[in-house]
Amino acid sequence: MTQKLLFLLDTDPMPSVFDTVVGYDGGADHVIGYGGVTSENFGGLVDGTIYTRGPKEKQFTAIFVGGGDMVASEALFKAVKKRFFSNFRVSVMLDSNGSNTTAAAGVALLAKARPLAGKKAVVLAGTGPVGMRAAAMLHIEGAEVAITSRSKQRAEATSKAIDERFGFAPTPIEAPSNQARAAAVKGAQIVFAAGAIGIPLLDEKDWQNDPTIELIADCNAQPPLGIGGIEAIDKAKERHGKIVIGALGLGGLKLKLHRACVGQLFESADQVLDAENIYAQAKNLA
Ligand SMILES: NC(=O)c1ccc[n+]([C@@H]2O[C@H](COP(=O)([O-])OP(=O)(O)OC[C@H]3O[C@@H](n4cnc5c(N)ncnc54)[C@H](OP(=O)(O)O)[C@@H]3O)[C@@H](O)[C@H]2O)c1
Repeated sequence: MTQKLLFLLDTDPMPSVFDTVVGYDGGADHVIGYGGVTSENFGGLVDGTIYTRGPKEKQFTAIFVGGGDMVASEALFKAVKKRFFSNFRVSVMLDSNGSNTTAAAGVALLAKARPLAGKKAVVLAGTGPVGMRAAAMLHIEGAEVAITSRSKQRAEATSKAIDERFGFAPTPIEAPSNQARAAAVKGAQIVFAAGAIGIPLLDEKDWQNDPTIELIADCNAQPPLGIGGIEAIDKAKERHGKIVIGALGLGGLKLKLHRACVGQLFESADQVLDAENIYAQAKNLA
């Protein structure tokens, strides 16, 4: 039996342990991680995947692109795909820091709870990998999207990067404090918190009596949570009349989706998994 090999190309100095474990749980026989991979130095690694197995065995080699810098990982993903030609290709997935699978799980659960089209959505700390993909998926659902950052320059640069990839630019908002983020969510129906681990972004008092907010999701599982007054295990739980999803509430679907995507990579040699088809799969699994 040909072994299923998953090559983890990580733009961070050390390959992700999380992605390694989920690679095995998704069905790979071996997960081989490389850190510090860039769109400049990746060539030999990809050549090793495409020139080593015949047409019938090629589907058992796959590439997973990860890392904490979404822009660098997107550049690497693009370069990997460009390296393929004719049937010298293997399946490839982009999921920097769980960006696609985490955002897809959160947005799919929100969309399952209520239609999102035409609603105003604010992605708090939307400049990281998860926030950037959440903004794109909320846009796919027809929401009007804004992203916040502590820095005006980062909010604008991220909006531009999202526009280059998805053809829409979320409204960039500078919001360096909880107070500023409370002002940023005024008038919105959806709040999606995508801040760094253990960083609180919005206090309970700033959403509990808000007349417009209907739906809240928070990706941060480590206390203090991103959104005050919710529990990480909340899964479409009603709090103060709002539907709330915490990081563990969406984490089950995220892991199921991540594993399913890894399994899908080995179904043929031409799978290309990124935001759009990963989000579609999340909606099927939600
Ligand atoms: N639940 C799950 O299954 C799951 C899976 C994967 C990831 N996650 C979680 O998803 C969240 C987002 O992941 P990520 O990799 O996209 O995050 P990240 O890149 O580490 O951080 C996202 C943004 O948080 C902001 N930030 C950092 N420090 C801050 C501070 N002290 N105060 C306010 N804002 C701050 C930064 O924005 P600015 O510098 O622009 O302000 C940064 O771009 C994390 O909490 C991660 O743990 C959850």
